[in-house]
Amino acid sequence: MNTPVATEAARRRTFAIIAHPDAGKTTLTEKLLLKGGAIQLAGQVRAKGEGRRTRSDWMKIEQERGISVATSVMTFERDGLVFNLLDTPGHEDFSEDTYRTLSAVDAAVMVLDAAKGIESQTRKLFEVCRLRDIPIVTFINKMDREGRDPLDLLDEIEKTLALDVTPAAWPIGAGRDFRGVMDLREPSLRLLREGGDLHIPIAGLDDPALDREIPQHAATLREQVELVQGGFPEFDAEAFLHGTLTPVFFGSALRDFGVGHLLDGLAAMAPPPGRRTADARTVEPSEPKLTGFVFKVQANMDPQHRDRVAFLRICSGRLEKGMRLAQVRTGKQVPVNAPLFFFAKDRQVAEEAWPGDVVGIANHGTLRIGDTLTEGEPINFRGVPSFAPEHLRRPRLEDPMLAKKLKKALEELADEGVVQLFRPLDGSPPIVGVVGLLQVDVLGSRVKAEYGVPVGFENVQWDMLRWVTGEDRAAIERFTRIHRADCAEDHDGELVALFTSDWRRRRAEEEWPMLRFHAVREQH
Ligand code: G4P
Repeated sequence: MNTPVATEAARRRTFAIIAHPDAGKTTLTEKLLLKGGAIQLAGQVRAKGEGRRTRSDWMKIEQERGISVATSVMTFERDGLVFNLLDTPGHEDFSEDTYRTLSAVDAAVMVLDAAKGIESQTRKLFEVCRLRDIPIVTFINKMDREGRDPLDLLDEIEKTLALDVTPAAWPIGAGRDFRGVMDLREPSLRLLREGGDLHIPIAGLDDPALDREIPQHAATLREQVELVQGGFPEFDAEAFLHGTLTPVFFGSALRDFGVGHLLDGLAAMAPPPGRRTADARTVEPSEPKLTGFVFKVQANMDPQHRDRVAFLRICSGRLEKGMRLAQVRTGKQVPVNAPLFFFAKDRQVAEEAWPGDVVGIANHGTLRIGDTLTEGEPINFRGVPSFAPEHLRRPRLEDPMLAKKLKKALEELADEGVVQLFRPLDGSPPIVGVVGLLQVDVLGSRVKAEYGVPVGFENVQWDMLRWVTGEDRAAIERFTRIHRADCAEDHDGELVALFTSDWRRRRAEEEWPMLRFHAVREQH
């Protein structure tokens, strides 16, 4: 199809970077932006930098711990393609945000530290990508430092992630002796030079350019590449798109080496926006009518105003400034008067946006995570997950007069995804749930700073919860009657069961085989 929507969708590449903290995600992001011509933006990305430090009170926690709660979207163009890089907060305590962001991308770059290989957070994030069959391109970073044997690293990816690997390049030397890579996709040498790669096309392994350019390394390189080409599968687009095979690039983000190669690889291999599953049907990106879903809501940086920005991932059609969209959950009309594109630093008002793009929509709390927006069609996209919280707490007010204010604060922050809120069926005060404990601190400090309510959090008897579903309505009613004191409703009125131990959960599952107990709930 040759419509403007199809054409624009086809040139989008929407991706995220997944990495364990310190693997080099921030450095790589900066370098990618530089490659994309967004030169003035590089340096603005650093979450740890000064730029973001002064914004508001509730961000104090971020400053103290050197992390960023904010998810930003960075758009850049290169060779006719539009790249949308969705930044994911790296700290493990904020993994929920990261998971949600991954529901909005079409591909991911997995960054590994050459000395460390797969680390705990890499594995967790990878598992989310796998759940969604997100294609993954691997970038082995810090090749300029002493690292592990590349064969060892590939082996580890294969074994620990059960993911096939296909090297897109092979390193020449390592650590202080790192000279660059041989590009295996388009046979060439990419040599490390001050200020970037020197690109030398070669005819093959026998090319005398190898002996001329890298005399000390030519023999080893020939030997290793032969071994690698025989030992690993070739790139297979189908397997890659299904997330079962990852092409592997090598480089040094710090030295700006291999980043262009990675970006070329992304351009060539990463898919444009694909079809998305909604409850009633599948939506093709080329459809003329606009559809999209909210994967992130962020409070305005100014705590005095309760304005919020909802991040909408466009799935089909064209978004125009001034449109009115239907919020499927409520049937309300949402005006989109000033959609925002997030160019790392400045927010810019966009005139139009296309499938794969992410725009920010300012609103006063109407839009929630998981909301689907359409031009009127009542469909809901699946796939913005809620994870069963790992920590449950009960807010404790120092001043009971502030109960109403606290309720409002918790509800608004639950809309934003800062916390999950549960109302026990027996009418006892609400409890909050978080995936990472740091979120409790963020919650407390925001409730105080933005709503003027000092609040503490106490432990509860429960350790975990599960969403409960089942076809058999009578069984659900029986369950809630018998376990009333251990049941609650989530923010959307869905039933959850609370457990004091994992053993109790397993027992409930055995005793109620007609019910299902879910650790993940897809919001809609
Ligand atoms: P993150 O966002 O994944 O947490 O990692 P970040 O980019 O902040 O990088 C973590 C550290 O690793 C930084 O050093 C950074 O300079 C370094 N680094 C990133 N890529 C490379 C690389 O290719 N080679 C080498 N040798 N180092 C790299 P730092 O000292 O912790 O921070 P900074 O003082 O440089 O900001």
